[in-house]
Amino acid sequence: MKKLEDYVVSIPDYPEPGIIFRDVTSILQDAEGLKLAIDSLQAELDGLDFDVIAGTESRGFIFGMPIAYNLHKPFVLVRKKGKLPRETVSASYDLEYGSAEIEMHKDSIKPGQKVVLIDDLIATGGTIEAAAKLVESLGGEVVRIIFLMELAGLKGREKLKNYDVRSVIRYE
Ligand code: PRP
Ligand code: ADE
Repeated sequence: MKKLEDYVVSIPDYPEPGIIFRDVTSILQDAEGLKLAIDSLQAELDGLDFDVIAGTESRGFIFGMPIAYNLHKPFVLVRKKGKLPRETVSASYDLEYGSAEIEMHKDSIKPGQKVVLIDDLIATGGTIEAAAKLVESLGGEVVRIIFLMELAGLKGREKLKNYDVRSVIRYE
């Protein structure tokens, strides 16, 4: 039987020289790969008490939404700047290639809610650290952070020392 790793196509020098791009589309375009990815990520939440799943644009949406649906939890979108129509909070950050700004609706998390953050991949950790700060600025508590893939060599976990971080596939 194929393992999840077997579905990931790695593209050298994309989008810039020196980056090895770990492509999730190669997982998603195979029904077995898609199922294995969602099931493996969801298993990282077994037994956890939480209220909300928040996913970061755009690949965090793909993986977060089906899990929220399966577990009957609300799903909150952490979007790139300028996409959310109502009042927002925002944070800027750097990533493996470039920088960005993300936003959340101010009413998307209620004070005291236990929040799970989800993304397809952690590289430098900048994106998810910014998302965690936004959740906390709204009074939420980040109770776990889950990724399908971790680029361990980039040491993103060092930014997330105060959180319970889990990943399904780890690349050195
Ligand atoms: C990618 C990836 C993570 C982030 C990881 O998203 O999906 O969100 O980069 O990098 P970091 O750990 O260094 O912050 P990207 O911003 O490329 O957006 P996309 O999902 O819309 O392609
Ligand atoms: N996002 C940031 N770095 C990445 C990488 N190396 N592969 C896929 N997505 C990424």
